[in-house]
Amino acid sequence: MAVPRLLLHLVYPSLSSLLLAKCKPSPLPVLNIGCSSRRISTAAAQRAFDPPVDEFWRWHCERGAVAASSAAAVKPGFVPEGLGLVAQRDIPRNEVVVEVPKRLWIDSDTVVASEIGRLCAGLKPWVSIALFLLRERALGTASPWHPYLDILPPTTNSTIFWTEEELSEIEGTQLLNTTMGAKEYVESEFVKAEAEVILPNKHLFPLAITSLDFLWAFGMLRSRAFSYGRGENLALVPLADLINHSSSIIHKDSSWEIKGKGIFSRELIFSLRTPVYVKSGEQVYIQYDIAKSNADLALDYGFVEQRPDRDAYTFTLEISESDTFYGDKIDIAESNGLDETAYFDIALGCPLPPLMLPYLRLVVLGGTDAFLVESVFRNTIWGHLELSVSRANEEAICRVIRQACKSALSAYHTTIEEDEKLMEGDNLDERLRISICVRDGEKKVLQQIDDAFRERESELDILEYYQERKLKDLGLVGEQGSMEILLKMCKSQKLLNCMRNARRLPAESFI
Ligand SMILES: *[C@@H]1O[C@H](CO)[C@@H](O)[C@H](O)[C@H]1NC(C)=O
Ligand SMILES: *[C@@H]1O[C@H](CO)[C@@H](O)[C@H](O)[C@H]1NC(C)=O
Ligand SMILES: *[C@@H]1O[C@H](CO)[C@@H](O)[C@H](O)[C@H]1NC(C)=O
Repeated sequence: MAVPRLLLHLVYPSLSSLLLAKCKPSPLPVLNIGCSSRRISTAAAQRAFDPPVDEFWRWHCERGAVAASSAAAVKPGFVPEGLGLVAQRDIPRNEVVVEVPKRLWIDSDTVVASEIGRLCAGLKPWVSIALFLLRERALGTASPWHPYLDILPPTTNSTIFWTEEELSEIEGTQLLNTTMGAKEYVESEFVKAEAEVILPNKHLFPLAITSLDFLWAFGMLRSRAFSYGRGENLALVPLADLINHSSSIIHKDSSWEIKGKGIFSRELIFSLRTPVYVKSGEQVYIQYDIAKSNADLALDYGFVEQRPDRDAYTFTLEISESDTFYGDKIDIAESNGLDETAYFDIALGCPLPPLMLPYLRLVVLGGTDAFLVESVFRNTIWGHLELSVSRANEEAICRVIRQACKSALSAYHTTIEEDEKLMEGDNLDERLRISICVRDGEKKVLQQIDDAFRERESELDILEYYQERKLKDLGLVGEQGSMEILLKMCKSQKLLNCMRNARRLPAESFI
């Protein structure tokens, strides 16, 4: 039997899908789950705007994004998280708080219509928007977008902006792997864009653009661009992108939509609603994405939440090319919506993803169970894989997973206990707190998986396997008596032989 290859690290997704930051900018990490509506003191909310914010607001109103600034439901304001949207009056649940017409967005169409549009024709949407942002930023006040660009933060707490020392705190985590993967990806896109677009068009890019600038643009898009239309479109939506996240809002439904304005207008508008009632002077929040893990949140926005189901670990399983039954196995995987490589996200306290066990059993399938990959079983094999196939197969999946957990667990430089202790400390540096939370969460998930498979291992003798089920289906199994003896025999002997013997027995004797 070929040794199954089991990779425990998330392979960074092929990056067309990378920039699908479903939602928004990064809010303040929420320390307590319970601390829901952080009231903003009137003083903070009414603090005179910083000139850039003030200017941004004027720019936004002048360009017709808000009917009349006095009628606005929200205004940008300073909040504990930095900038945010502050309610100007009591706002009922589900009321639209911001509408932004497409002419104010920065998206692929904005780039196409710009001076660099021609150059960006073949580029990935995010790369062209990144180049646009950097070029406009370099133009300074000569850019019509400067009031917006001026309020973009120079950095965030996303792990892509961490120093090496800060990153050393997430040694051994999948988060470190995905962070490095993202940075390598951005770097390679930069090298391409520099050679193909920036350097050959010096007249359009008079100021140098570095790979760090490019990473900044990536970070801005990743944390605040909205993606829509199956993630193919990406847009920065000024004002709407000031909305922060709150862990106390747990709505699954999106709080924003893109729609046509009026019956006759073909202009699209971005429309943002408040998912909950907001009192005048409080900040409006949304839920960025209830499905994201803490590692996702840390990479995308630079915050984490202390909620068990945000703790996750991604198992990457793979059918090895050197597997004797490689072709058949791929065929079986594909006809069940899977592939040569499959990713399974496991969250703390949640059951294994339903396709994981069948896929695992398929990956390790071999030996006397190999007959199941034959084409006569093609229509029924998945059903068989959903249940334990044989003792050997079940034992193999336990062994493989437990080894993988053990090896992953050995890569962290702290234990769960040490992390829990550290978490109790006050005044933790924010990035250190994110590190501890993520590595602690990953370890707990790995521990949980290891425990589950250890338990499975202890049940190997009492589980029911394919051959026994087969006997039952054939009506060869009675509640008691001779059948039990037969089953015991099956367990201790070669199952196939046992099957053959069973078939020869007169069926009547078992009724
Ligand atoms: C809240 O949103 C603002 C505006 O987008 C952003 O700059 C800030 O980083 C967010 N808060 C936090 C803590 O990330
Ligand atoms: C990182 O998070 C801390 C704590 O929330 C915050 O004070 C700081 O401004 C954040 N840094 C950046 C660059 O957003
Ligand atoms: C992430 O982990 C995978 C699997 O171990 C590895 O192949 C890949 O090179 C790693 N990526 C980075 C950027 O380290």
